[in-house]
Amino acid sequence: MARILILYSTTDGHTLAICQRLRQVIEQQNHQVTLVSVNDAAQADLTLFDKIVVGASIRYGKHRPQLYDFIKKNAHLLDSKPNAFFTVNVVARKPDKNQPETNPYLKKFLQQIPWRPRQLAVFAGKIDYPKYSFWDRQVIRLIMWMTKGPTNPETVVEFTNWKQVEAFAQLVCEM
Ligand SMILES: Cc1cc2nc3c(=O)[nH]c(=O)nc-3n(C[C@H](O)[C@H](O)[C@H](O)COP(=O)(O)O)c2cc1C
Repeated sequence: MARILILYSTTDGHTLAICQRLRQVIEQQNHQVTLVSVNDAAQADLTLFDKIVVGASIRYGKHRPQLYDFIKKNAHLLDSKPNAFFTVNVVARKPDKNQPETNPYLKKFLQQIPWRPRQLAVFAGKIDYPKYSFWDRQVIRLIMWMTKGPTNPETVVEFTNWKQVEAFAQLVCEM
């Protein structure tokens, strides 16, 4: 049985939902999973875990500053254990942008951080227009219009491929 820490960085909760699915699948394999927000990572003793997974969503082209701070402070520790990183964004709904080698945010992110995650994944996120503030909704609708996605302001759509999430959970068990 491995003790696995999953750290997440989310704004609207979808990355957390992905982490909860990961936890469910990993726990079915009799491993122990702890979920912690990157914002609370300073309070967690990372040395207690056998493996660490970090997941984070994109907002306006970037991952959050807290994620960069966490990685900068803990790059050595992360490198010292089996580890993985995944990003969540809606550009990844496009088949030509849904792999670690083809997702523009992940490629850029890896150039900016001192950590080399051993396993990588890209998951397509969720659009939830009714939940967004007025301006966020208008901006995302404009981006969706430009990239041929849904623009109806009542749209709630999950682009996430849950089978891919489950396969990643399996990979985490085996890494
Ligand atoms: C205000 C806002 C900005 C976003 N910016 C981007 C973006 O620049 N590129 C992208 O691919 N997805 C973008 N997204 C989509 C999010 O990455 C997607 O909704 C994801 O599921 C959010 O995950 P979270 O709920 O864990 O924060 C944006 C979403 C919102 C609400």
